[in-house]
Amino acid sequence: MPRRSLFLKVFGTASFTIVAVLYVALIVAVFRNDDKPLTTLAPKGVNAQTIQNLVAPVFGVAGVIFVAVFGAVLYITWRFRDRDDDTPMPSQVHGNSVLEVGWTALPALILAAIAVFTVITIIKLEQRSDDALAVRVYGQQWWWSYQYDVDGDGSYDGQGDITTANELVIPAGREVSLTISSHDVIHSFWIPALNGKKDAVPGMDSHWKIEADQPGVYMGQCTEFCGLSHANMRMVVRALDPAQFDEWVANQQRPARSPEPGSLAAAGEAQFGNLCAQCHVVNGKFEKAEETPPPLLSGVAPNLTHLMTRGTFAGSIFNLYYPQQPGAPVPTPGDPTDASTPGDPGDALFGGTSAYPVNRVTLEAWLRNPPAMKPAAATQKRGMPNLGLSEQQIDELVAYLETLK
Ligand code: CUA
Repeated sequence: MPRRSLFLKVFGTASFTIVAVLYVALIVAVFRNDDKPLTTLAPKGVNAQTIQNLVAPVFGVAGVIFVAVFGAVLYITWRFRDRDDDTPMPSQVHGNSVLEVGWTALPALILAAIAVFTVITIIKLEQRSDDALAVRVYGQQWWWSYQYDVDGDGSYDGQGDITTANELVIPAGREVSLTISSHDVIHSFWIPALNGKKDAVPGMDSHWKIEADQPGVYMGQCTEFCGLSHANMRMVVRALDPAQFDEWVANQQRPARSPEPGSLAAAGEAQFGNLCAQCHVVNGKFEKAEETPPPLLSGVAPNLTHLMTRGTFAGSIFNLYYPQQPGAPVPTPGDPTDASTPGDPGDALFGGTSAYPVNRVTLEAWLRNPPAMKPAAATQKRGMPNLGLSEQQIDELVAYLETLK
């Protein structure tokens, strides 16, 4: 056998094997998604399931076509390969109306059928239930705010309505109707286990809905490039059973309590009033001064009234509590694994005392120098600036923040 032919044979077989192995590995990796918080293939709510019901059959049909077409290509390549013997050339033909009409019409029919089911899916995702819980969502550099229309009167800042940040707490088994917008640039809201993504566009209201079948924690991530900390703009959805959700609502509606006079926390409250209240609201204590908007491009900073009821802070990239699981290593500030599992506030979620220790190391590091912990352009009014706090001020502020349950 000539050298060249042997080389081609070995090269061809090796290439084919490598491509086949990589392809199978890719498919296996995609479907082994149990521990991947952002997988789109493990729906945990009716809307994500609606999308899955479209995607799975389309993927199946595409898979059959893929195998048929590439199988035919491989077979023909092998069957009619150039041989060293005197096999004559296959007869050369031109034009075959049946084949040509067939391979034009069949894909058109398949795509038309997929289009019908796609439109049905889109219509289903746009339908809204009358008893949905209405929440207004704002994206801003680089965190999410949520305003709840608790009494269902159509306004988000009436009596009993709630404003919170980063963590969206919802009742399991009930539709949550979202109105999504942005205070600065375009972001995108995405909780893959609960629905697809929806852009947050400044000056425009986009409607979306999520629903979780079961109580649980569902992760999300901003999916529209929005500046330096786009990758650090995460969201956490905590779905609670309805009774627990009511308990959470009742606690959120309560204004902040004042710390005991003379305590470290009371000193922290005074520091907060001087240093932080320019941007951060604490209901009942430090309300927003409408005439002097905060010195931020977005005009708002997270409402901290019930900070400690959340498991995470700073765009949900750092944990407020640790360890997340027994024996889990204590995170170091800025460690990317710090919030790979969102912190669990435990009973603090309802204003009680958490069994988990507060992640003071990271909270203090954040107050010491926020832009060092999370990329930001604070000098351009984007993100929390370094206030040059003393260690004494940090101790006092952390003591105060820990009272905000
Ligand atoms: Cu916000 Cu990307």
